[in-house]
Amino acid sequence: MRTPMVAGNWKLNGSRESAVTLASEIASTSVAGIADNVEIVVCPVSVHLAEVSAVLKSTSVKLGAQNACAEEKGAFTGEVSASMLAEFGCEYVIIGHSERRSLFGDTNESCAARHKAVAAAGITPIFCVGETLDDRESGNTMAVVESQLQSVFDACGDNGFASAVVAYEPVWAIGTGKTATPDQAQEVHAQIRDFVAARDQQTASLLRILYGGSMNPRNAAELIGKPDIDGGLIGGAALKSADFLAICQAAAAQA
Ligand code: PGA
Repeated sequence: MRTPMVAGNWKLNGSRESAVTLASEIASTSVAGIADNVEIVVCPVSVHLAEVSAVLKSTSVKLGAQNACAEEKGAFTGEVSASMLAEFGCEYVIIGHSERRSLFGDTNESCAARHKAVAAAGITPIFCVGETLDDRESGNTMAVVESQLQSVFDACGDNGFASAVVAYEPVWAIGTGKTATPDQAQEVHAQIRDFVAARDQQTASLLRILYGGSMNPRNAAELIGKPDIDGGLIGGAALKSADFLAICQAAAAQA
């Protein structure tokens, strides 16, 4: 049985004050009934981690970061390492988000190295995969997604997803208001699980695969109701506590 998970990717948003307010609203209203059945994670920008961590202390809402360096320490200006994130109480780190890949030059190899470093620091990577519209229209969705997954097997071995979460985020659905239909998403999620199962059956059956890309309170229940969709990685709708909690509630109802 996989516990559903809903993670908020706050991206480059908020101030110290608004991040604390949002985290407080989520932590204080998520308790009753929801948090027992769904794992809730928020991922603020790294300079807000300390304050958000203080708000989440002794609540069931978990803390995540949006990226981590593959290196532990040294001459890597501007980077933050996984062990530094662990010091703030981060239990999750988003790796390989399509914005990192398309805007900041992250490659399959560098994402896999980050994934490996995060797992080695005892943090759970949320490894993002997904195709562009061109990829989909040219029939290459699974080739792209499998090459992204393969990079983790190449770097970490057959059990590279043993303590990880995967997020399927079709690039064309991120921040666009266009959502993959539940059937489109389920098809890819099932193939991701099969691809992992070919390496490690046990990991595949326990692996949580989140959907991301314009998930909102109106479409969440139908998406998360699919057998291989184990929750969501939420961007825009994670910035309003009422919307985020409504998605958490939809996930809890599936548990
Ligand atoms: P969105 O973003 O929900 O705003 O589409 C999802 C993501 O980028 O993780």
